[in-house]
Amino acid sequence: MPEPLMAAPDSPLRLLPKVELHCHVEGTARAATVAELAAKHGIPLGVDDPDDLYTYESLADFLNAFGTVCSVFLEPADFHRLAYEAAEDAAAAGTRYREMFFSPGFHLDRGVPFHRMWEGLVSGIADGETDHGVRTRLILDVDKPKGIGPAMALLEVARSLDRDLLIGVGGDSTEQGLDHHMFEPLIAEAQQLGLKTCFHCGEDGPAENIAIMVEAGIDRIDHGTRLLDLPDLTKRVVDERIPLTSCPGSNVEIGVVESLEAHPFVDQRAAGALVTLNSDDPTFFRYDLADEYERMSATFDLDMAEMVAIRDNAIEASWLDETDKAALRAEFAAS
Ligand code: ADE
Ligand code: ZN
Repeated sequence: MPEPLMAAPDSPLRLLPKVELHCHVEGTARAATVAELAAKHGIPLGVDDPDDLYTYESLADFLNAFGTVCSVFLEPADFHRLAYEAAEDAAAAGTRYREMFFSPGFHLDRGVPFHRMWEGLVSGIADGETDHGVRTRLILDVDKPKGIGPAMALLEVARSLDRDLLIGVGGDSTEQGLDHHMFEPLIAEAQQLGLKTCFHCGEDGPAENIAIMVEAGIDRIDHGTRLLDLPDLTKRVVDERIPLTSCPGSNVEIGVVESLEAHPFVDQRAAGALVTLNSDDPTFFRYDLADEYERMSATFDLDMAEMVAIRDNAIEASWLDETDKAALRAEFAAS
């Protein structure tokens, strides 16, 4: 029996073809894979049961666990496996197209050269698409607490990467103690290079951080949980149709929102915002995108038509061109 509020294998919401815009590849790492790679490389995980890695009560706890999980990916084959299994699990959730973060900062810190991670991710994504039919493109995520220097250095590396695969630049980790104005040059330079931009903001920090990043010109807001705290900003986000990649389950697990019932997703939608539904770090939270859809549908009594409209928001909010969006809509309508 599936657990309550999880999407069964034959659930219409699991079978619904979906698009995901906010998911970290490292946040898809299976506990069994992490344990196997840790053993292969002789890396201590500090727990007997790898499942125990995925428990935390705050964003700081979560980021610690995220770092530990990152530490087992060292060789191209490890990153290949990570990206391949991400596609396999995405297919099981009904995801057909995904714009997915990767976080080089965590791996560079451990002496893994950029090209090793890139080579593995690229081949894992290609094989994952061939075998599981999930098309994936990548967003390079900078680790915000490292500051603007390392962020700009990563953007330099991004210059030479395949633009069919690398489509954007984002920023994650905590907002605490960070003046988000410092990232303005990163956004400007990334856009100069023809990359799309997004930033985690208004998650564990105030709506003012969303305002700073919107003013800087970001193309998408990641989380944006605090948006409604600022009515003028909300109006701008609605009027300019700047999408939000909301991750309600993640917000509850990490503790920035008390419960799913208390999450502003539905209110943001009612205010006219272009809100999308995403899993963020599915293995860390122990449910996938289909479960996220199921839980939101059950919690807020959203019927299938509304869930399809929410899914369609993700097509609109994606960074596909209009031809590809139309093709995806046609593919989804036919399935
Ligand atoms: N990195 C991965 N998931 C994250 C989250 N929810 N918030 C900030 N940084 C993250
Ligand atoms: Zn995230």
